[in-house]
Amino acid sequence: MSSRQNIAPNDLSAFWMPFTSNRQFKKAPRMFVGAKDMHYTTSDGRQVLDGTAGLWCVNAGHCRPRIAQAIGEQAAEMDYAPAFQMGHPKAFELANMLVGIAPDGLNHVLYTNSGSESVETALKVALAYHRVKGDGARQRLIGRERGYHGVNFGGISVGGIVGNRKMFGSMLTGVDHMPHTHTPGRNQFTRGEREGDGESLANELERIVTLHDASTIAAVIVEPVAGSTGVLIPPKGYLKKLREITKKHGILLIFDEVITGFGRLGTPFAADYFGVMPDMIVCAKGLTNGTIPMGAVLVTSEIHDTFMQGPEHMIEFFHGYTYSGNPVASAAGIATLEVYKEEGLLTRGAGELGKYWEDALHSLKGLPHVIDVRNLGLVGAVELQPIDGEPTKRAFAAFVKAFESGILIRTTGDIIAMSPPLIVEKSHIDQLIGTLSTILKGLD
Ligand SMILES: Cc1ncc(COP(=O)(O)O)c(C=O)c1O
Repeated sequence: MSSRQNIAPNDLSAFWMPFTSNRQFKKAPRMFVGAKDMHYTTSDGRQVLDGTAGLWCVNAGHCRPRIAQAIGEQAAEMDYAPAFQMGHPKAFELANMLVGIAPDGLNHVLYTNSGSESVETALKVALAYHRVKGDGARQRLIGRERGYHGVNFGGISVGGIVGNRKMFGSMLTGVDHMPHTHTPGRNQFTRGEREGDGESLANELERIVTLHDASTIAAVIVEPVAGSTGVLIPPKGYLKKLREITKKHGILLIFDEVITGFGRLGTPFAADYFGVMPDMIVCAKGLTNGTIPMGAVLVTSEIHDTFMQGPEHMIEFFHGYTYSGNPVASAAGIATLEVYKEEGLLTRGAGELGKYWEDALHSLKGLPHVIDVRNLGLVGAVELQPIDGEPTKRAFAAFVKAFESGILIRTTGDIIAMSPPLIVEKSHIDQLIGTLSTILKGLD
Protein backbone atom coordinates (compact mmCIF):
# COMPACT_ATOMS: atom_id res chain seq x y z
CA MET A 1 0.00 0.00 0.00
CA SER A 2 1.49 3.36 -0.91
CA SER A 3 2.00 5.90 1.86
CA ARG A 4 -0.22 8.32 -0.09
CA GLN A 5 -3.19 6.01 0.37
CA ASN A 6 -2.76 6.04 4.12
CA ILE A 7 -2.93 9.77 4.61
CA ALA A 8 -6.48 11.02 5.03
CA PRO A 9 -6.87 14.39 3.28
CA ASN A 10 -7.51 17.23 5.69
CA ASP A 11 -9.99 19.04 3.47
CA LEU A 12 -13.06 16.99 2.62
CA SER A 13 -15.27 19.84 1.48
CA ALA A 14 -14.89 19.63 -2.31
CA PHE A 15 -16.40 16.17 -2.78
CA TRP A 16 -20.20 16.33 -2.47
CA MET A 17 -20.75 12.71 -1.56
CA PRO A 18 -23.63 10.63 -3.02
CA PHE A 19 -26.50 9.42 -0.83
CA THR A 20 -24.50 10.49 2.23
CA SER A 21 -25.16 12.77 5.19
CA ASN A 22 -22.22 14.94 4.11
CA ARG A 23 -21.95 17.20 7.17
CA GLN A 24 -22.13 14.32 9.59
CA PHE A 25 -19.66 12.21 7.59
CA LYS A 26 -17.11 14.98 7.29
CA LYS A 27 -17.11 15.50 11.03
CA ALA A 28 -16.21 11.83 11.64
CA PRO A 29 -15.06 10.32 8.32
CA ARG A 30 -15.03 6.60 7.71
CA MET A 31 -12.33 5.87 5.16
CA PHE A 32 -11.28 2.65 3.46
CA VAL A 33 -7.83 2.54 1.91
CA GLY A 34 -7.38 -1.12 1.01
CA ALA A 35 -9.30 -4.32 0.40
CA LYS A 36 -8.59 -8.03 0.00
CA ASP A 37 -11.08 -10.88 -0.42
CA MET A 38 -13.59 -10.53 2.45
CA HIS A 39 -12.02 -7.52 4.16
CA TYR A 40 -11.48 -3.81 3.90
CA THR A 41 -8.61 -1.96 5.58
CA THR A 42 -9.46 1.37 7.20
CA SER A 43 -7.25 4.46 7.15
CA ASP A 44 -6.31 3.71 10.77
CA GLY A 45 -5.21 0.20 9.80
CA ARG A 46 -8.17 -1.86 11.04
CA GLN A 47 -9.66 -4.85 9.19
CA VAL A 48 -13.40 -4.61 8.49
CA LEU A 49 -15.33 -7.69 7.35
CA ASP A 50 -17.38 -6.85 4.28
CA GLY A 51 -20.97 -7.85 4.97
CA THR A 52 -22.36 -6.04 1.94
CA ALA A 53 -20.06 -6.93 -1.00
CA GLY A 54 -19.17 -3.24 -1.16
CA LEU A 55 -22.50 -1.93 -2.38
CA TRP A 56 -23.94 -5.30 -3.50
CA CYS A 57 -21.32 -5.55 -6.23
CA VAL A 58 -18.08 -7.26 -5.17
CA ASN A 59 -19.46 -10.79 -5.53
CA ALA A 60 -16.08 -12.52 -5.98
CA GLY A 61 -14.45 -10.69 -3.08
CA HIS A 62 -11.98 -7.85 -3.26
CA CYS A 63 -8.91 -7.25 -5.40
CA ARG A 64 -8.96 -10.55 -7.20
CA PRO A 65 -5.58 -10.76 -9.00
CA ARG A 66 -7.08 -12.18 -12.20
CA ILE A 67 -9.48 -9.28 -12.59
CA ALA A 68 -6.87 -6.66 -11.64
CA GLN A 69 -4.44 -8.15 -14.16
CA ALA A 70 -7.03 -8.19 -16.97
CA ILE A 71 -7.80 -4.52 -16.30
CA GLY A 72 -4.12 -3.54 -16.26
CA GLU A 73 -3.29 -5.45 -19.42
CA GLN A 74 -6.23 -4.06 -21.34
CA ALA A 75 -5.48 -0.48 -20.23
CA ALA A 76 -1.94 -0.91 -21.53
CA GLU A 77 -2.89 -2.69 -24.78
CA MET A 78 -5.85 -0.60 -25.92
CA ASP A 79 -7.43 1.84 -23.53
CA TYR A 80 -10.41 2.91 -25.58
CA ALA A 81 -12.09 2.27 -28.91
CA PRO A 82 -14.97 4.38 -30.27
CA ALA A 83 -18.24 2.77 -29.29
CA PHE A 84 -20.21 3.93 -32.32
CA GLN A 85 -19.69 2.34 -35.75
CA MET A 86 -16.47 0.67 -34.49
CA GLY A 87 -15.94 -2.43 -32.41
CA HIS A 88 -13.33 -4.35 -30.44
CA PRO A 89 -13.29 -8.09 -29.74
CA LYS A 90 -13.71 -8.10 -25.98
CA ALA A 91 -17.12 -6.40 -26.02
CA PHE A 92 -18.40 -9.18 -28.27
CA GLU A 93 -16.70 -11.87 -26.22
CA LEU A 94 -18.25 -10.60 -22.99
CA ALA A 95 -21.69 -10.35 -24.62
CA ASN A 96 -21.44 -14.02 -25.65
CA MET A 97 -20.40 -15.00 -22.14
CA LEU A 98 -23.28 -13.05 -20.63
CA VAL A 99 -25.79 -14.66 -22.98
CA GLY A 100 -24.22 -17.99 -21.98
CA ILE A 101 -25.13 -17.56 -18.30
CA ALA A 102 -28.43 -15.74 -18.88
CA PRO A 103 -31.77 -17.55 -18.92
CA ASP A 104 -32.46 -19.18 -22.30
CA GLY A 105 -33.90 -16.76 -24.81
CA LEU A 106 -32.12 -13.60 -23.62
CA ASN A 107 -29.69 -13.56 -26.51
CA HIS A 108 -28.63 -9.96 -27.03
CA VAL A 109 -26.80 -7.40 -24.90
CA LEU A 110 -26.78 -3.60 -24.79
CA TYR A 111 -24.01 -2.11 -22.64
CA THR A 112 -24.20 0.80 -20.21
CA ASN A 113 -22.05 2.17 -17.40
CA SER A 114 -24.27 1.69 -14.37
CA GLY A 115 -27.49 0.23 -13.09
CA SER A 116 -29.27 3.54 -13.55
CA GLU A 117 -28.26 3.72 -17.20
CA SER A 118 -29.27 0.10 -17.70
CA VAL A 119 -32.75 0.98 -16.44
CA GLU A 120 -33.05 3.98 -18.77
CA THR A 121 -31.84 1.84 -21.66
CA ALA A 122 -34.37 -0.92 -20.97
CA LEU A 123 -37.27 1.55 -20.69
CA LYS A 124 -36.24 3.16 -24.00
CA VAL A 125 -35.95 -0.23 -25.69
CA ALA A 126 -39.47 -1.06 -24.48
CA LEU A 127 -40.99 2.15 -25.82
CA ALA A 128 -39.14 1.93 -29.13
CA TYR A 129 -39.93 -1.78 -29.56
CA HIS A 130 -43.67 -1.17 -29.52
CA ARG A 131 -43.32 1.78 -31.83
CA VAL A 132 -41.22 -0.15 -34.34
CA LYS A 133 -43.91 -2.84 -34.26
CA GLY A 134 -46.53 -0.24 -35.17
CA ASP A 135 -47.96 -0.24 -31.63
CA GLY A 136 -46.76 3.25 -30.67
CA ALA A 137 -49.72 3.96 -28.35
CA ARG A 138 -48.04 1.73 -25.80
CA GLN A 139 -46.24 4.47 -23.90
CA ARG A 140 -47.06 3.82 -20.28
CA LEU A 141 -44.50 2.35 -17.92
CA ILE A 142 -45.52 0.53 -14.74
CA GLY A 143 -43.25 0.26 -11.71
CA ARG A 144 -43.91 -0.59 -8.11
CA GLU A 145 -44.03 1.15 -4.74
CA ARG A 146 -40.74 0.75 -2.85
CA GLY A 147 -38.99 -0.08 -6.12
CA TYR A 148 -35.47 1.29 -6.68
CA HIS A 149 -34.31 1.63 -10.26
CA GLY A 150 -31.43 4.04 -9.90
CA VAL A 151 -31.43 7.80 -9.96
CA ASN A 152 -32.02 8.94 -13.51
CA PHE A 153 -35.36 10.36 -14.62
CA GLY A 154 -36.88 7.15 -15.99
CA GLY A 155 -35.68 5.17 -13.00
CA ILE A 156 -37.00 7.55 -10.36
CA SER A 157 -40.29 7.82 -12.25
CA VAL A 158 -40.95 4.08 -12.25
CA GLY A 159 -39.27 3.75 -8.85
CA GLY A 160 -41.32 4.00 -5.70
CA ILE A 161 -39.21 5.78 -3.10
CA VAL A 162 -40.70 9.11 -2.13
CA GLY A 163 -37.42 10.61 -0.94
CA ASN A 164 -35.83 9.94 -4.33
CA ARG A 165 -38.76 11.48 -6.23
CA LYS A 166 -40.25 14.41 -4.38
CA MET A 167 -37.52 16.98 -5.16
CA PHE A 168 -37.62 16.49 -8.90
CA GLY A 169 -40.95 17.68 -10.21
CA SER A 170 -43.37 15.61 -12.22
CA MET A 171 -40.69 13.45 -13.91
CA LEU A 172 -41.92 11.06 -16.64
CA THR A 173 -45.63 11.21 -17.30
CA GLY A 174 -47.70 8.13 -18.06
CA VAL A 175 -46.26 6.11 -15.20
CA ASP A 176 -48.22 4.06 -12.69
CA HIS A 177 -47.20 1.89 -9.77
CA MET A 178 -48.27 -1.48 -8.41
CA PRO A 179 -48.40 -1.94 -4.63
CA HIS A 180 -45.23 -3.26 -3.01
CA THR A 181 -45.14 -6.82 -1.74
CA HIS A 182 -44.18 -6.21 1.87
CA THR A 183 -46.93 -6.95 4.36
CA PRO A 184 -45.51 -6.73 7.86
CA GLY A 185 -47.78 -8.37 10.34
CA ARG A 186 -48.37 -11.23 7.92
CA ASN A 187 -44.88 -12.31 6.99
CA GLN A 188 -42.56 -11.49 9.89
CA PHE A 189 -39.60 -13.80 10.37
CA THR A 190 -40.43 -15.79 7.24
CA ARG A 191 -37.57 -17.89 5.95
CA GLY A 192 -37.35 -17.37 2.19
CA GLU A 193 -40.58 -16.83 0.25
CA ARG A 194 -43.87 -16.69 2.10
CA GLU A 195 -47.09 -18.43 1.04
CA GLY A 196 -50.43 -16.86 0.57
CA ASP A 197 -50.85 -13.57 -1.19
CA GLY A 198 -48.68 -13.90 -4.32
CA GLU A 199 -51.50 -14.12 -6.84
CA SER A 200 -53.68 -11.49 -5.23
CA LEU A 201 -50.81 -8.98 -5.09
CA ALA A 202 -49.92 -9.64 -8.74
CA ASN A 203 -53.57 -9.23 -9.68
CA GLU A 204 -53.23 -5.55 -8.73
CA LEU A 205 -51.58 -5.25 -12.13
CA GLU A 206 -54.86 -6.34 -13.73
CA ARG A 207 -56.55 -3.38 -12.05
CA ILE A 208 -53.97 -1.00 -13.49
CA VAL A 209 -54.36 -2.57 -16.92
CA THR A 210 -58.12 -2.19 -16.67
CA LEU A 211 -57.73 1.46 -15.65
CA HIS A 212 -55.42 2.46 -18.50
CA ASP A 213 -56.17 -0.25 -21.08
CA ALA A 214 -53.46 -2.69 -22.12
CA SER A 215 -53.08 -0.96 -25.48
CA THR A 216 -51.42 2.02 -23.72
CA ILE A 217 -48.92 0.05 -21.61
CA ALA A 218 -45.39 -0.66 -22.84
CA ALA A 219 -43.69 -2.38 -19.93
CA VAL A 220 -43.72 -3.41 -16.29
CA ILE A 221 -40.43 -3.15 -14.40
CA VAL A 222 -39.75 -4.79 -11.04
CA GLU A 223 -36.83 -5.90 -8.94
CA PRO A 224 -37.46 -9.63 -8.40
CA VAL A 225 -36.40 -8.99 -4.78
CA ALA A 226 -36.49 -5.31 -3.88
CA GLY A 227 -33.04 -4.61 -2.45
CA SER A 228 -32.54 -0.96 -1.65
CA THR A 229 -35.81 -0.57 0.25
CA GLY A 230 -34.85 -3.33 2.62
CA VAL A 231 -34.77 -6.78 1.00
CA LEU A 232 -38.46 -7.31 0.28
CA ILE A 233 -38.94 -10.93 -0.73
CA PRO A 234 -41.94 -11.51 -3.01
CA PRO A 235 -44.53 -14.08 -1.96
CA LYS A 236 -44.65 -17.42 -3.75
CA GLY A 237 -46.28 -17.28 -7.16
CA TYR A 238 -46.14 -13.45 -7.43
CA LEU A 239 -43.60 -13.13 -10.23
CA LYS A 240 -45.10 -16.05 -12.17
CA LYS A 241 -48.47 -14.34 -12.07
CA LEU A 242 -46.97 -11.00 -13.18
CA ARG A 243 -45.47 -12.87 -16.13
CA GLU A 244 -48.84 -14.41 -17.02
CA ILE A 245 -50.63 -11.07 -16.88
CA THR A 246 -48.00 -9.16 -18.87
CA LYS A 247 -47.85 -11.88 -21.54
CA LYS A 248 -51.62 -11.99 -21.88
CA HIS A 249 -51.73 -8.23 -22.51
CA GLY A 250 -48.67 -7.91 -24.78
CA ILE A 251 -46.79 -5.92 -22.11
CA LEU A 252 -43.03 -6.38 -21.75
CA LEU A 253 -41.73 -7.58 -18.39
CA ILE A 254 -38.38 -6.15 -17.26
CA PHE A 255 -36.51 -7.62 -14.30
CA ASP A 256 -34.14 -5.16 -12.67
CA GLU A 257 -31.44 -7.57 -11.50
CA VAL A 258 -28.81 -4.98 -10.62
CA ILE A 259 -28.66 -6.57 -7.15
CA THR A 260 -30.06 -10.06 -7.74
CA GLY A 261 -27.90 -10.79 -10.80
CA PHE A 262 -24.66 -12.76 -10.68
CA GLY A 263 -25.38 -15.34 -8.02
CA ARG A 264 -26.92 -13.34 -5.18
CA LEU A 265 -29.84 -15.79 -4.81
CA GLY A 266 -27.77 -18.93 -5.45
CA THR A 267 -28.59 -18.91 -9.16
CA PRO A 268 -27.01 -16.84 -11.95
CA PHE A 269 -30.06 -14.56 -12.09
CA ALA A 270 -33.21 -14.23 -10.01
CA ALA A 271 -35.15 -15.19 -13.15
CA ASP A 272 -33.57 -18.66 -12.75
CA TYR A 273 -34.39 -18.78 -9.05
CA PHE A 274 -38.05 -17.95 -9.57
CA GLY A 275 -38.36 -19.87 -12.87
CA VAL A 276 -39.80 -16.80 -14.60
CA MET A 277 -38.48 -15.58 -17.93
CA PRO A 278 -38.75 -11.80 -18.43
CA ASP A 279 -38.38 -10.02 -21.76
CA MET A 280 -35.38 -8.05 -20.50
CA ILE A 281 -32.93 -8.27 -17.62
CA VAL A 282 -31.20 -5.13 -16.37
CA CYS A 283 -27.87 -5.70 -14.63
CA ALA A 284 -24.65 -3.92 -13.52
CA LYS A 285 -22.70 -4.12 -10.21
CA GLY A 286 -21.53 -7.78 -10.13
CA LEU A 287 -20.86 -7.74 -13.87
CA THR A 288 -17.34 -6.45 -13.26
CA ASN A 289 -17.15 -7.36 -9.57
CA GLY A 290 -17.49 -3.66 -8.81
CA THR A 291 -14.14 -2.78 -10.40
CA ILE A 292 -14.93 -0.78 -13.55
CA PRO A 293 -18.35 0.84 -13.97
CA MET A 294 -20.39 -1.25 -16.40
CA GLY A 295 -23.99 -2.31 -16.82
CA ALA A 296 -25.93 -4.32 -19.37
CA VAL A 297 -29.43 -4.98 -20.63
CA LEU A 298 -30.18 -8.50 -21.86
CA VAL A 299 -33.04 -8.73 -24.34
CA THR A 300 -34.84 -11.50 -26.20
CA SER A 301 -34.26 -12.24 -29.88
CA GLU A 302 -37.86 -11.20 -30.49
CA ILE A 303 -37.09 -7.68 -29.24
CA HIS A 304 -33.71 -7.46 -30.96
CA ASP A 305 -34.94 -8.84 -34.29
CA THR A 306 -37.87 -6.42 -34.34
CA PHE A 307 -35.37 -3.56 -34.68
CA MET A 308 -33.33 -5.26 -37.41
CA GLN A 309 -35.28 -4.01 -40.39
CA GLY A 310 -35.12 -1.19 -42.94
CA PRO A 311 -32.04 -0.23 -44.97
CA GLU A 312 -28.88 -1.88 -43.60
CA HIS A 313 -26.85 1.32 -43.57
CA MET A 314 -29.27 2.87 -41.09
CA ILE A 315 -28.69 2.85 -37.31
CA GLU A 316 -31.42 0.63 -35.86
CA PHE A 317 -31.64 2.09 -32.33
CA PHE A 318 -30.73 5.68 -31.56
CA HIS A 319 -29.18 5.12 -28.17
CA GLY A 320 -25.75 4.37 -26.67
CA TYR A 321 -22.97 5.77 -24.50
CA THR A 322 -19.39 6.81 -25.22
CA TYR A 323 -18.35 4.04 -22.87
CA SER A 324 -20.80 1.32 -23.97
CA GLY A 325 -18.66 -1.84 -23.98
CA ASN A 326 -15.51 0.08 -23.01
CA PRO A 327 -12.46 -2.20 -23.56
CA VAL A 328 -11.16 -2.01 -19.99
CA ALA A 329 -14.64 -2.64 -18.57
CA SER A 330 -15.14 -5.52 -21.00
CA ALA A 331 -11.83 -7.06 -19.94
CA ALA A 332 -12.89 -6.72 -16.30
CA GLY A 333 -16.25 -8.33 -17.12
CA ILE A 334 -14.67 -11.29 -18.91
CA ALA A 335 -12.23 -11.95 -16.06
CA THR A 336 -15.05 -11.58 -13.52
CA LEU A 337 -17.31 -14.08 -15.27
CA GLU A 338 -14.37 -16.49 -15.56
CA VAL A 339 -13.74 -16.25 -11.80
CA TYR A 340 -17.45 -16.77 -11.08
CA LYS A 341 -17.47 -19.85 -13.29
CA GLU A 342 -14.26 -21.43 -12.07
CA GLU A 343 -15.16 -20.98 -8.41
CA GLY A 344 -18.83 -21.90 -8.81
CA LEU A 345 -19.82 -18.58 -7.25
CA LEU A 346 -23.06 -18.13 -9.17
CA THR A 347 -24.59 -21.10 -7.38
CA ARG A 348 -22.63 -21.00 -4.12
CA GLY A 349 -25.46 -19.30 -2.21
CA ALA A 350 -27.77 -22.24 -2.82
CA GLY A 351 -27.91 -25.29 -0.61
CA GLU A 352 -25.92 -25.65 2.59
CA LEU A 353 -24.27 -22.23 2.70
CA GLY A 354 -27.60 -20.49 2.05
CA LYS A 355 -29.16 -22.53 4.86
CA TYR A 356 -26.31 -21.60 7.23
CA TRP A 357 -26.81 -17.93 6.37
CA GLU A 358 -30.55 -18.25 6.95
CA ASP A 359 -30.12 -19.94 10.34
CA ALA A 360 -27.53 -17.39 11.44
CA LEU A 361 -29.75 -14.45 10.48
CA HIS A 362 -32.82 -15.88 12.15
CA SER A 363 -30.85 -16.44 15.36
CA LEU A 364 -31.24 -12.66 15.81
CA LYS A 365 -34.99 -13.06 16.34
CA GLY A 366 -35.87 -12.06 19.88
CA LEU A 367 -33.03 -9.56 20.31
CA PRO A 368 -33.93 -6.00 21.39
CA HIS A 369 -35.62 -3.86 18.70
CA VAL A 370 -35.68 -6.67 16.10
CA ILE A 371 -39.15 -6.72 14.51
CA ASP A 372 -38.38 -8.82 11.43
CA VAL A 373 -35.70 -10.96 9.80
CA ARG A 374 -35.89 -12.06 6.15
CA ASN A 375 -33.55 -13.84 3.78
CA LEU A 376 -33.10 -15.46 0.38
CA GLY A 377 -29.91 -16.86 -1.14
CA LEU A 378 -27.04 -14.82 0.31
CA VAL A 379 -29.04 -11.73 1.07
CA GLY A 380 -30.74 -10.89 4.31
CA ALA A 381 -32.33 -8.10 6.31
CA VAL A 382 -32.97 -7.32 9.94
CA GLU A 383 -35.66 -4.73 10.54
CA LEU A 384 -35.53 -2.67 13.72
CA GLN A 385 -38.29 -0.88 15.56
CA PRO A 386 -37.69 2.81 14.79
CA ILE A 387 -37.09 5.21 17.67
CA ASP A 388 -40.33 7.16 18.19
CA GLY A 389 -40.21 10.36 16.16
CA GLU A 390 -36.66 9.68 14.93
CA PRO A 391 -36.86 7.18 12.07
CA THR A 392 -33.56 5.78 10.71
CA LYS A 393 -31.58 6.86 13.78
CA ARG A 394 -31.46 3.46 15.49
CA ALA A 395 -30.29 1.56 12.40
CA PHE A 396 -27.73 4.23 11.57
CA ALA A 397 -26.34 3.95 15.11
CA ALA A 398 -26.00 0.20 14.50
CA PHE A 399 -24.19 0.89 11.22
CA VAL A 400 -21.64 3.20 12.88
CA LYS A 401 -21.14 0.81 15.79
CA ALA A 402 -20.69 -2.06 13.32
CA PHE A 403 -17.99 -0.17 11.44
CA GLU A 404 -16.23 0.54 14.73
CA SER A 405 -16.56 -3.14 15.68
CA GLY A 406 -15.05 -4.42 12.42
CA ILE A 407 -18.04 -5.32 10.22
CA LEU A 408 -19.59 -3.48 7.29
CA ILE A 409 -23.39 -3.59 7.10
CA ARG A 410 -25.81 -1.38 5.20
CA THR A 411 -28.89 0.40 6.42
CA THR A 412 -31.91 1.74 4.67
CA GLY A 413 -34.51 3.36 6.88
CA ASP A 414 -34.51 1.21 10.01
CA ILE A 415 -33.59 -1.92 8.10
CA ILE A 416 -30.13 -3.50 8.18
CA ALA A 417 -29.36 -5.21 4.86
CA MET A 418 -26.53 -7.67 4.36
CA SER A 419 -25.19 -9.33 1.22
CA PRO A 420 -21.64 -10.62 1.71
CA PRO A 421 -19.32 -11.45 -1.17
CA LEU A 422 -20.21 -14.91 -2.49
CA ILE A 423 -16.83 -16.28 -1.36
CA VAL A 424 -18.03 -15.90 2.25
CA GLU A 425 -17.18 -18.79 4.61
CA LYS A 426 -19.20 -19.97 7.59
CA SER A 427 -16.64 -18.42 9.95
CA HIS A 428 -17.27 -15.01 8.35
CA ILE A 429 -21.01 -15.46 8.79
CA ASP A 430 -20.42 -16.31 12.44
CA GLN A 431 -18.36 -13.16 12.92
CA LEU A 432 -20.82 -10.94 11.06
CA ILE A 433 -23.92 -12.16 12.86
CA GLY A 434 -22.14 -12.55 16.21
CA THR A 435 -20.89 -8.96 16.13
CA LEU A 436 -24.27 -7.68 15.00
CA SER A 437 -25.95 -9.56 17.82
CA THR A 438 -23.68 -7.89 20.40
CA ILE A 439 -24.37 -4.49 18.84
CA LEU A 440 -28.15 -5.01 18.88
CA LYS A 441 -28.03 -5.95 22.54
CA GLY A 442 -26.30 -2.67 23.35
CA LEU A 443 -28.43 -0.31 21.23
CA ASP A 444 -30.64 2.37 22.76
C1 LIG B 1 -32.27 -2.63 -8.39
C2 LIG B 1 -31.35 -1.52 -8.72
N1 LIG B 1 -31.49 -0.89 -9.89
C3 LIG B 1 -30.68 0.12 -10.24
C4 LIG B 1 -29.67 0.54 -9.41
C5 LIG B 1 -28.79 1.69 -9.81
O1 LIG B 1 -27.51 1.27 -10.07
P1 LIG B 1 -26.32 2.37 -10.11
O2 LIG B 1 -26.14 2.86 -8.74
O3 LIG B 1 -25.16 1.55 -10.64
O4 LIG B 1 -26.73 3.41 -11.08
C6 LIG B 1 -29.49 -0.09 -8.18
C7 LIG B 1 -28.41 0.32 -7.26
O5 LIG B 1 -28.34 -0.08 -6.13
C8 LIG B 1 -30.34 -1.14 -7.82
O6 LIG B 1 -30.25 -1.76 -6.65
